[in-house]
Amino acid sequence: MPDSVTMEKIVSLARRRGFVFPSSEIYGGLGSSYDYGHYGVLMKENVKARWLEAMVRERDDIVALDSSIILHPRVWEASGHVTGFADPLVDCRFCKRRYRADQLDQAECGAKPSKHPGETEKCDLTEPRQFNLMFSTRIGAVEETGFDAYLRPETAQGIFVNFKNVAQIARRKPPFGIAQIGKAFRNEITPGNFIFRTLEFEQMEMEYFVPPAEAERWYRYWIEERMSWYLRLGIRESHLRVRAHEAEELSHYSSATSDIEYLFPIGWSELEGIARRGDFDLRAHTEASGTKLEWVDSEGGERYVPHVVEPAAGVGRSLLAFMVDAYDEEVVAERPRTVLRLHPELAPVKVAVLPLIPRNPEIAGRARALYEELRRAVVAEYDDSGQIGRRYRRQDEIGTPFALTIDEQTLEDDTITIRDRDSLSQERIPISGARSAVLDRLAHEWKTPKPD
Ligand code: GAP
Repeated sequence: MPDSVTMEKIVSLARRRGFVFPSSEIYGGLGSSYDYGHYGVLMKENVKARWLEAMVRERDDIVALDSSIILHPRVWEASGHVTGFADPLVDCRFCKRRYRADQLDQAECGAKPSKHPGETEKCDLTEPRQFNLMFSTRIGAVEETGFDAYLRPETAQGIFVNFKNVAQIARRKPPFGIAQIGKAFRNEITPGNFIFRTLEFEQMEMEYFVPPAEAERWYRYWIEERMSWYLRLGIRESHLRVRAHEAEELSHYSSATSDIEYLFPIGWSELEGIARRGDFDLRAHTEASGTKLEWVDSEGGERYVPHVVEPAAGVGRSLLAFMVDAYDEEVVAERPRTVLRLHPELAPVKVAVLPLIPRNPEIAGRARALYEELRRAVVAEYDDSGQIGRRYRRQDEIGTPFALTIDEQTLEDDTITIRDRDSLSQERIPISGARSAVLDRLAHEWKTPKPD
């Protein structure tokens, strides 16, 4: 069956099942801003946990950091963001809308949405002007003594300005890395594509500091590593690719960048960027702050400014790719079924406990007891509302890998059924072994049943 997923279907499912809501909806919504509901939060936590596990917990060479969102304003002058982090924008004097000058072919004309800006007779576009993407704010209670600051547009700079602190305390010799997950903010003027591009988003960034002569090798290494991370978490290989940036696309700090792209319903688009930042950032902050950011060997006295290789991913964008890749529709017993075939490690809920006849106090009691036992081990959900078919459908749509059903037979022989989300197989197992049956199955290697 061909891929039936569209962005509209994902937006609708995300909203219907409480993954993602438009932000400030009761006030008409705020463009490019979204709020995460219960399942969205749980799934986002899983994405971040898998990243931290792969980047920090499973390795000896990377340590974690959580730096501030608001840094000293001079950080952004030194990093080049005040002058260099800008998009070319044009305004339309007729419809009063603003567009990215380099993306007019993807934008809708404000007066005639079937056309692109500049294509109708009434369109009256200004010359492109550089528009800085950083959100500014003011620090200080008193206007006269306050000063301007920025919300960070990338988490990376918090890592560079802490290089000396971390390198000393972590006692690491290059190659070593510093990893951070946190919010970043950009005043993006682009047509919204749901959570693909938002004003406020979480990044998962790691700066890997290496001897300059090894930069190319580690750049290749991190492209491979990050590709494997997505593949391990179930993304189909045919929907991932690596694309090297052309010289004119490179950010002001980068000497080479490759994007890991995913085949989103909007086409191949960046999922994560792996950049060779050279010594640009450490040198810029050394010069601006007067603090030497270099690696010094305490024994041999060798000193140099390490080069940086940076894998930088977005939490929301990864979550979107995982949802899109998992989305499936099929017909079962002449009824349509929508299912999120998520990797069990990413699924917001691991197991649902469903009493077949909730009104029967004995069945409900056994189901409750089982749920209480399971929720101590994994995220579990107790669901007793509506017909069993509807409950299965609800769990399928949020991607719950297993459902346990307690019925009248349970009262006779202490068995329950375990239903597999992907194969729809149902097996009777003893209720006493339910917890280990679920944990065993969750630990199995998983591969998407969707064709690659
Ligand atoms: N420190 C390097 C850096 O920030 P980037 O390519 O601009 O590089 C890294 O951002 C990742 O952050 C992107 O690959 C994407 O996943 C995510 N990202 C960037 N801008 C975003 C936005 N406006 N909304 C959602 N995610 C975004």
